[in-house]
Amino acid sequence: MTTPHINAQANEFAKTVLMPGDPLRAKYIAQNYLDDVKQVNTIRNMLGYTGRFNGNRVSVMGSGMGAPSICLYAHELYNEFGVENIIRVGSCGSLQEHVELNDIVFAMGATTDSNINRIRTSGYDFAAIADYDLLQQHVSKARQKELKFHVGSIFTTDLFYNSNPQTVKTMTRFGVLAAEMETAGLYCIAAEFGKKALTICTVSDHLLFSQQLSANERQTGFDSMLEIALLCLPEEK
Ligand code: HPA
Repeated sequence: MTTPHINAQANEFAKTVLMPGDPLRAKYIAQNYLDDVKQVNTIRNMLGYTGRFNGNRVSVMGSGMGAPSICLYAHELYNEFGVENIIRVGSCGSLQEHVELNDIVFAMGATTDSNINRIRTSGYDFAAIADYDLLQQHVSKARQKELKFHVGSIFTTDLFYNSNPQTVKTMTRFGVLAAEMETAGLYCIAAEFGKKALTICTVSDHLLFSQQLSANERQTGFDSMLEIALLCLPEEK
């Protein structure tokens, strides 16, 4: 079975797929964390791999940037490759003073300026929420590892560059933790097909203080978030 965007066989993906935005991060995860790795997607260089962590089967693949990109990959993974769980492991920009660089944000729900979910849900404002079990398991693991984390709302925006300062002000006022570009779309498509999804992000920049992590700091933050996701993998032999 190959689809327009994934040239894998039907059984080549594990039930759980970790999705960083950047395909080179998928390659990094496969090379540094997984055993018995096989490359399963090459189309458009959206690199995908399946391997094992602690004996459990898992896949990793890039999502690209933005809701349209993650949605088309999630659609094919959920519908054609038997995938049950997609864990987005991404980065985000903080919208709150107390959410600091390198903190972890678990997206319990996603607010969006995108129209993508209205198109999918006949014009309604769908409540884009994480799968509760996945959220609960990952939050427990972060607590156990004494990582600094936040659980709440995230802002899925279509505009990385937004010249309207009111957007950030409004999101901050309503307690939204951080901005990114994929989660609302991912949560809605998971709901449409009765599948599960969770977004975990590390804070790579601060939208109130104009701060950014260096490339080195980004890597360390990414590793601790990733370890949570890998330690929470469901059993799949
Ligand atoms: N905006 C949108 N997406 C992001 C940001 C941001 O500030 N930081 C990391 N991903």
